[in-house]
Amino acid sequence: MVTAPNVAANLPWVEKYRPSKLDELVAHEQVVKTLTRFIENRTMPHLLFYGPPGTGKTTTVLAAARKMYSPQKMTSMVLELNASDERGIDVVRNTIVNFAQTKALQAFSSATTSENAAFKLVILDEADSMTKDAQNALRRVIEKYTDNVRFCIICNYMASIIPAIQSRCTRFRFAPLDQKLIVPRLEYIVKTENLNMTPDGRDALLTVSKGDMRTVINTLQSTAMSFDVISETTVYQCIGQPTPKEMKEVIKSLLNDPAKKCLINIKSKLFGNGYALQDVITHLHDIIYTLDIPDQAMATLITGLGEVEENLSTGCSNETQLAAVVAAFFEAKRLCVADMKNVQLEDVEPMEL
Ligand SMILES: Nc1ncnc2c1ncn2[C@@H]1O[C@H](COP(=O)(O)OP(=O)(O)O)[C@@H](O)[C@H]1O
Ligand SMILES: [Mg+2]
Repeated sequence: MVTAPNVAANLPWVEKYRPSKLDELVAHEQVVKTLTRFIENRTMPHLLFYGPPGTGKTTTVLAAARKMYSPQKMTSMVLELNASDERGIDVVRNTIVNFAQTKALQAFSSATTSENAAFKLVILDEADSMTKDAQNALRRVIEKYTDNVRFCIICNYMASIIPAIQSRCTRFRFAPLDQKLIVPRLEYIVKTENLNMTPDGRDALLTVSKGDMRTVINTLQSTAMSFDVISETTVYQCIGQPTPKEMKEVIKSLLNDPAKKCLINIKSKLFGNGYALQDVITHLHDIIYTLDIPDQAMATLITGLGEVEENLSTGCSNETQLAAVVAAFFEAKRLCVADMKNVQLEDVEPMEL
């Protein structure tokens, strides 16, 4: 599954453990099945892969290319353009058109060899950053060279691709990976690298990555570089975010302490440890949905946290915005009291933290 150890030794783990074959991918069973059928029947359409980062889009198309072409032919048959390449209209007119035209003969000659594909492949990775002009130029190119070239367009958001291109491609959605499916792959890496990972460390990796396998592997590697054990504490320490336990204390203080005490408390707990309010807001946002409070109070919290997040992104200070978070909680508490039928504020406890 892994390439030769000395070659791989210096590679970041995301590359070292990038599956090279389609059947090594976790999840996306249907996508892999359909692609395999396309390859075997030599009926590959143009492809459009979309979905959040770290879900295997680039890996899938590279593995499909390896299945279609022999290693010697890969460089001449596959053109891969990613975010680091210029992606204006000139690239479409020059690089892509040149590739499609000049190698055409070679492409056809391969039909008589053992290759699985008689066409070349252009991979436009991270196509969200392509300009609309470039995309418009591309749609003509796609049609003109369909005889000997297939396109695979990869993006995070389908809305960033113009409808004319969308309709020329077969679409595949790459959903965030199911945690259950990430676990075996994660444990395989832990075993191969001889690491010491505790169960709560594993859960922390799964929680912070939200279905993004690249984040799982990168966080695992950086934690392993800095600490002997991969535990909940070391994972959160490594990424510089508050642990669930620290967040629980914060929310308890927000719900129960008087305003001044609450501010001082949270300031020393969070800022003392160097956490960014932005990260705290993200965690708070997840936690407030677990609170058993009236809708009106919940709405106030959601709006309040949203405003704070916006203010932080425009450069407001952590301190004043923390005060705004505390204020949002106090407003929510006031609404709880107004709505008080059966909610006892002191009893409001976050569930399942
Ligand atoms: N479905 C998957 N199965 C196994 N590993 C995966 C999968 N998705 C992502 N990965 C891992 O995450 C890394 C990033 O995947 P990549 O295909 O580059 O993601 P994307 O292009 O969707 O952002 C890969 O190197 C691989 O190690
Ligand atoms: Mg990618």
